[in-house]
Amino acid sequence: MRKIVFVTGNKGKFREVRDILAVKGYEVIQNTDGYPEIQEDDLEPIAAFGARWVAHKLEMPAIVDDSGLFIDVLGGFPGPYSAFVEKKLGNKRVLKIMEGESDRNAVFKCVIGYCDPGSEPLTFTGAVKGTIAFEEQGAGGFGYDPIFDHNGITFGELKYEEKNKVSHRRRALDKFLEWLENRE
Ligand code: IMP
Repeated sequence: MRKIVFVTGNKGKFREVRDILAVKGYEVIQNTDGYPEIQEDDLEPIAAFGARWVAHKLEMPAIVDDSGLFIDVLGGFPGPYSAFVEKKLGNKRVLKIMEGESDRNAVFKCVIGYCDPGSEPLTFTGAVKGTIAFEEQGAGGFGYDPIFDHNGITFGELKYEEKNKVSHRRRALDKFLEWLENRE
């Protein structure tokens, strides 16, 4: 089994990435040491910088996941600041900000950054469209899952395997796997 190190302190992300890649014969090892997150409006440069930094430091093929929730009517906020907003405000206060808004469209984006030691990084982006629910629904998943409605059901209400079939993370990993398989 080929090993890839995944640097993340987020258990939800790790579990999803590990399980999706395991089916394809990759063993994903978690490393929680972190990496410098540069400040950018887009996720791609953040993921590319992180993957390169980690692969060069650990001298192993490495992935990082930079993801976030982009709410249309808020100009894409919280976007790259999703982890910070989740920690400081939480879902209930995000719902308060959305009170009275009829345009509830949002996009979950996930960028997988991958780098081999001594190489330049690559990024693979996955996105899924949905709407911000009016209240939290479901206790599954993590982060914004209970307020992200996808086809009438929140990610928090979906079974774990069902979220993994349609999520932004799944879409990004599918692109990454296609690239890996073509290069082998
Ligand atoms: P970062 O990629 O570590 O900067 O943080 C991404 C943040 O976006 C997470 O801490 C969550 O708040 C949110 N997020 C990313 N992916 C998901 C997901 O699949 N479900 C729910 N929230 C997510």
